[in-house]
Amino acid sequence: MPQKVTISLIKADVGSLCGHHVVHPKQLEVARKRLEGAKKNGLIIDYYVFNCGDDLELLMTHTKGEGDPEIHGLAWNTFKEVTEKVSKPLKLYAAGQDLLSDTFSGNVKGMGPGVAEMEITERPSEPIVVFAADKTEPGAWNYPLYKIFASPDNTAGLVIDPSMHEGFIFRVMDVVEGKVVDLSCPEELYSLVALLGTTGRYVVERVLRKVDREIAAVATTTRLSLIAGKYVGKDDPALIIRAQHGFPAVGEILAPFAYPHLVAGWMRGSHYGPLMPVSLKHARCTFFDGPPRVVALGFQLTNGELIGLTGSEPADLFDDPAFDVARTIAMQIADYMRRMGEFMPARVGPEELEYTTLPKILVKLKDRFRHV
Ligand code: F6R
Ligand code: MG
Ligand code: MG
Repeated sequence: MPQKVTISLIKADVGSLCGHHVVHPKQLEVARKRLEGAKKNGLIIDYYVFNCGDDLELLMTHTKGEGDPEIHGLAWNTFKEVTEKVSKPLKLYAAGQDLLSDTFSGNVKGMGPGVAEMEITERPSEPIVVFAADKTEPGAWNYPLYKIFASPDNTAGLVIDPSMHEGFIFRVMDVVEGKVVDLSCPEELYSLVALLGTTGRYVVERVLRKVDREIAAVATTTRLSLIAGKYVGKDDPALIIRAQHGFPAVGEILAPFAYPHLVAGWMRGSHYGPLMPVSLKHARCTFFDGPPRVVALGFQLTNGELIGLTGSEPADLFDDPAFDVARTIAMQIADYMRRMGEFMPARVGPEELEYTTLPKILVKLKDRFRHV
């Protein structure tokens, strides 16, 4: 009987160098040391620590299943340790930002960090692609996930491969009500798009292959502003997708990112901007605190180990001239959007701005309005 393995990606912004720009190497070092200890004592099988901009990402494999208190505790304590040992002493910006609670109660969900976890039976060959984005929200995955798992224009396998031809089930979460609905595609494709088009409210929690309900993808769904009741930095989502042999091919998974679609986030979490696919080296926001960026890392999961290209380094999938055009278009769009300044639709709508500091400005004008 092949063993089950759980892939857990838990991430948080616990402070960064030069504003909201980039995680400091010492933060990565402390996180690696802690996870190396957990690997040595057998709690986890393997790990990879990386960052996308100011977000520290802990990718771990283990046999404890989803939502395990020990694994979540490990992540929580790692974020705490990084905050206390590096972010605070170095006075990094927004130290401990995403740790919204002082006490850990067994699961980091609802406490600030983003979580994407899948328990799977490892196939004879198990390629996975891990995405992480900075300066945006979970709804940023709606468009690419729709393309990857529901659009025959993007994913040839939906048409050609008999094991994918039946389609996929999307588990869509209403982040306002905290409810989920399963939509089966292609039959319910139009209903799916009806929901996913509203990116600030409906997000994909996971995708299952219809024929056997095997997990194909899982994403973080945290909306920090809804937990904190105010703007505390953008959610900066992550996503894990299984590839090949009955799942979309790696190339089908990456293809939607050749089109830099508009996402909410960017400066002060209040603007629409293009999602720019970048290498790990360029996963650091600059222009107007952006544009929002996404990295894609490729691994082979081998008996729970995260096999990369050189040592433990993964395949840095957007580190490729094939995405140069997307990056150029992204910067053209970024420039175009910025020329609109603070006018909608460059700026997000009032329902999103409610959680920012803008209401404090508006309240000053309230009494000056006269009836006409
Ligand atoms: C977006 C983000 C930044 C900040 C901006 C202002 O998610 O984190 O764009 O909102 O740099 O930051 P403060 O208010 O901390 O000066
Ligand atoms: Mg930050
Ligand atoms: Mg961030």
